[in-house]
Amino acid sequence: MKAPLGILISGRGSNMAALIEASRAEDCPYEVVLVASNDPQAGGLAIARDAGIATFAHSHKGLPRAAFDAIIDKALRDAGVRYIALAGYMRILSDAFVQGWAGHMLNIHPSLLPLYKGLDTHGRAIAAGDAEGGCSVHLVTPELDDGEVIARARVPILPGDTPDSLAARVLIEEHRLYPAALAAYIRAHG
Ligand code: GRF
Repeated sequence: MKAPLGILISGRGSNMAALIEASRAEDCPYEVVLVASNDPQAGGLAIARDAGIATFAHSHKGLPRAAFDAIIDKALRDAGVRYIALAGYMRILSDAFVQGWAGHMLNIHPSLLPLYKGLDTHGRAIAAGDAEGGCSVHLVTPELDDGEVIARARVPILPGDTPDSLAARVLIEEHRLYPAALAAYIRAHG
């Protein structure tokens, strides 16, 4: 049986779409059972619905962090989720939520971690004069973008690159790396 996966998004959901697409393969070890968002307007929700995936949306606005995370946690557990993939989820998670999913929650971050945790990763890599950028899939721990890195993909930073041009080059790699790294992790951990 495939492991039930929940995906958390806040935006356009291109990594989510890549995970859903990959999950269709017979030998993929996960199936996407829920896409949840803190933003009812997130573009990825419509993509998920069109792909026949159940969705859950609840705005975080006006709610204490722990209370909001409890709502998301219930939606995930009601759906039978065993693993969570964060895919452009723009909320800091409460410690209780992270601990409740320890070892079962992965994120993709658009830098070669441990470089450039947080936001504006591509702008900072260009400003530093780095020769390479990239993306990392890591386990989620209470400290932001700090958990064990399980896979990385690298791209060159080219003369004249802007944060947008570099982001586009990295995104292509994200869409390859995330499904592959998640599948390998689930195969190894059951
Ligand atoms: C990606 O660059 C991802 O690495 C970062 O947020 C962005 C989300 O893009 N965490 P998308 O919503 O998956 O298209």
